[in-house]
Amino acid sequence: MQQPEHPENGAAQHYIKHAIVAQVEAGLLAPQASASPKYLYDVLGSRLFAAICELPEYYPTRTEAAIFDRYAPQIAKAVGVGATLIDLGAGNCAKAAKLFPTLHPSHYVAIDISETFLHEAVAGLRQQFPHIAMTCLGMDFSSELELPNTIGRERRQFFYPGSSIGNYTPLEALKFLLRIRKSITHDNSAAQDRTGGLLIGIDLIKDKAILDAAYDDALGVTASFNLNLLLHLNRLLDADFDLSNWCHRGFFNPQQNRVEMHLEARRDVTVRWKNGGLRQFVRGERIHTESSYKYTQESFVALLEQAGFNNIQTWCDPDQWFMVCHAQGGA
Ligand code: AVJ
Repeated sequence: MQQPEHPENGAAQHYIKHAIVAQVEAGLLAPQASASPKYLYDVLGSRLFAAICELPEYYPTRTEAAIFDRYAPQIAKAVGVGATLIDLGAGNCAKAAKLFPTLHPSHYVAIDISETFLHEAVAGLRQQFPHIAMTCLGMDFSSELELPNTIGRERRQFFYPGSSIGNYTPLEALKFLLRIRKSITHDNSAAQDRTGGLLIGIDLIKDKAILDAAYDDALGVTASFNLNLLLHLNRLLDADFDLSNWCHRGFFNPQQNRVEMHLEARRDVTVRWKNGGLRQFVRGERIHTESSYKYTQESFVALLEQAGFNNIQTWCDPDQWFMVCHAQGGA
């Protein structure tokens, strides 16, 4: 369970809130406006993302699930039973929960930026798996991966499914992988069977039409997911974004090997927020809200190796649309 907030943390919380507001403002005021994709995940955004995962066009979730199903024994062998399974971006925790019966973790640590959503999900799991210790951490692990002392340092198995690492540029991804490896490695990690690792899902480069459809679905759920970021910013900044002035763009950029999501002004728009903040957008101008980098099998394995991981194993679907990797991070 999350520790109750100490009153002396009030000043720190206030400072953090200020830093967040300043960062969001800077993004909106930049010549090429942007907002971090983490603002896609308020409570409603997390629910909309769960809906995206059910869409016929959004293949990653289902393709990854099929790989987990098909190769469950091999994956379990790589991860080992009795691990501390640390779920980065746990969301509704459904992916990890499906692995519990094969992986038998001793401790499940669910981390997500949307804490309310997390508590709901983990409460349900505690009933279903009473023998697994469970910890909820509402934190932005993109900036900080320092885990509380209550999380044992032995046999940490990080779980980072869904190709969420794609939100980082390849260089940022490398730095993030290095941080994970540092968190895994500890003084007694020499013995092979006590070594921690990383189980990660990676979306692979494929036909542009398939990628375009996955990020601009016919039902418009991805459009709602993207537009909801503006509702979140309205609350964060006390801003006045009017959703009817904006439309969703989602497409694969093959030059950069990434899908991009933008919000595009339908007409000239002036957006205002607290303390006199203001940005004018001309018709067609965009706010870049997400990049989702895609890899080849070779390029991602090379990144894992660069970050110092070893014993890398990979599993793919028959179409090679998605890849699951396990890598050991011990000394
Ligand atoms: C959660 C970052 C993996 O990039 O596919 C889905 C988010 N954005 N549809 C992705 C997302 C639009 C998703 N990740």
